[in-house]
Amino acid sequence: MEFLEKAILEKGKVLDGDILKVGSFFNQLMDISILEKIGKNIYQRFKDKNVTKILTVEASGIAMAVATALCFKCDVVFAKKSKTKNVEGEVYTADCYSFTHKTLNQLIVPKEYINSSDNVLIIDDFLATGEALNSLMDIVSQAKAKTVGIGIGIEKGFQKGGDKLREQGVDLFSLAVIDKMDTNGITFRK
Ligand code: G4P
Repeated sequence: MEFLEKAILEKGKVLDGDILKVGSFFNQLMDISILEKIGKNIYQRFKDKNVTKILTVEASGIAMAVATALCFKCDVVFAKKSKTKNVEGEVYTADCYSFTHKTLNQLIVPKEYINSSDNVLIIDDFLATGEALNSLMDIVSQAKAKTVGIGIGIEKGFQKGGDKLREQGVDLFSLAVIDKMDTNGITFRK
């Protein structure tokens, strides 16, 4: 989407180690007009899929998930990355290794928050290796619900997680796909 590519070019900063810093408008200070457009565009793309629930992972996926859920008028569930004291009862879990942070997390969702009749749209701000999305899809399968699609803000196409998901037949929609980035510039997939 042009509006997001434009903001990335104007305000994003490429850091060492293939990291794109977008905290000034996307995942720390959140520009509400951009978030609103993201939600509307994801809604347009998946509006015929009978979405009943949106699933994301804490922390920065939550804003985009809520912006999208306001269009669908459905609830949002986010997976926690650690079992806090207020998680009780039976839970679905899935391991998730972060290549960016070099940490192993366990994603946790209480069983009562997803049921087998749900058509789940998964949302996340970044797609890099796809580990987080595979773990979220695993949780949806454990609940015997259906993943109807995945909506992403920024896909780092050169890390191949998105291409693998498309090869598996996942209905993946990324608002901006970066094919190449370095300190000289950013190239988007057309
Ligand atoms: P994955 O999301 O495709 O599984 O890939 P990876 O494990 O590498 O990403 C792990 C975390 O790093 C995710 O955040 C993801 O949003 C973030 N991330 C990946 N690439 C970039 C990048 O280029 N720029 C920025 N700003 N973040 C990136 P997380 O661990 O879920 O943390 P949180 O910030 O949502 O709490």
